[in-house]
Amino acid sequence: MSEDKKNYKEILECQDKYVMHTYAPEILLVKGKGSYVWDSLNRKYLDFSTGISVCNLGHCHPAVTRAIKEQAGKLVHVSNLYMNEKQPQLAAKLAEKGFDGFVFFANSGAEANEGMIKLARKWGSEKGKFEIIVMEESFHGRTLATLAATGRSKYRAGFSPDMPGFVHVPFNDVSAIEKKINDKTCAVLLEPVQGEGGILPAKQEYLKAVRELCDKHGLLLMYDEVQCGMGRTGTFYAWQGYGVQPDALSMAKALGNGFPIGAFMVKRELGAVLGAGTHASTFGGTPLACAAALAVIEAFDSENILENCVRQGEFLMSGLAKLAKKYKSIQEVRGKGLIIGVVLDRPANDLKKIACSKGLLVLTAGETVLRLLPPLNVSKKESEEALHILDESLKQLQEFQNAK
Ligand SMILES: Cc1ncc(COP(=O)(O)O)c(C=O)c1O
Repeated sequence: MSEDKKNYKEILECQDKYVMHTYAPEILLVKGKGSYVWDSLNRKYLDFSTGISVCNLGHCHPAVTRAIKEQAGKLVHVSNLYMNEKQPQLAAKLAEKGFDGFVFFANSGAEANEGMIKLARKWGSEKGKFEIIVMEESFHGRTLATLAATGRSKYRAGFSPDMPGFVHVPFNDVSAIEKKINDKTCAVLLEPVQGEGGILPAKQEYLKAVRELCDKHGLLLMYDEVQCGMGRTGTFYAWQGYGVQPDALSMAKALGNGFPIGAFMVKRELGAVLGAGTHASTFGGTPLACAAALAVIEAFDSENILENCVRQGEFLMSGLAKLAKKYKSIQEVRGKGLIIGVVLDRPANDLKKIACSKGLLVLTAGETVLRLLPPLNVSKKESEEALHILDESLKQLQEFQNAK
């Protein structure tokens, strides 16, 4: 057995013995550069999964790596009982991107959402309001509050009782929200583009109507932009593509391009809701995490990332539309910018596996949707390569079917 194979076997055994079996990984990735990753057997993959919408600038972006290295040599962590210069600078940058208000820094998407849910409850508490209307098929995280908010019931199974205070309604249906509003309702929480639920963009008129409804009834409108934010839909904040601003929004994943950082923001008028001592996080907004995120935002500006996202999104969508004409297993292609879902007439996992064997990493979303989340700085050549591999993979899937 070669050294590489021996090493793989050892790591696999170690993983199996000591790492909790909440995931079932098979590939051992050892290196990443731009849109590509390499496994321990030196196989190269075009990564259209980006760590699930995390490495939006590709792997090991030089400016982000440099910022992490520099900051790691200067100051890694201080408690939020002291200021660090990077945190307010990052908050100001996030405001500059189109959401003037206050930011709370966390470490993950679930933690950011958890804080945003607490904000809504605190805001509603004086009026006895605590209920949050959330969407079926949504995903907000794995902590108990975010799990209760999550619409996909399979994630909640076995963890009952659900934390009370969440009411689920169908997505893209304004009247469903209206029917559930009562004197206990304080907020509506939704993803502008549902990710895990199957890449379902909100309809323009829906978001507009939800905003009007929230204004009419005095409710907070809160967006979970953990997956669809940070440029993925072609605008820095996903809501900017709709022109419908929320009162609060959460982000994480791509904010540090792989360095863990999450945040939620509220508009200026809500800045006093969570006063001193009401909410905290030891690791939230360390100088190191904020330095990484600042480098990410600078790269967005200097490298025209959003423009490329829109252009490559259109290119991939039109390429996928051609594949949809060629293969009847494709029912629909949908998405916005570079968050793209290919809806199949069968479980998407088989196609994902075939694509992987041909050197393309993609994801599924729900049972039947193949999810593409390329880096936002993906080149046309790489998009062409992905379309070619998908074409070959769909052909193989069809051959399997015909042989049955
Ligand atoms: C929309 C959305 N919200 C929240 C989360 C949870 O983020 P994290 O895994 O960082 O806690 C995710 C993760 O996939 C997500 O897609």
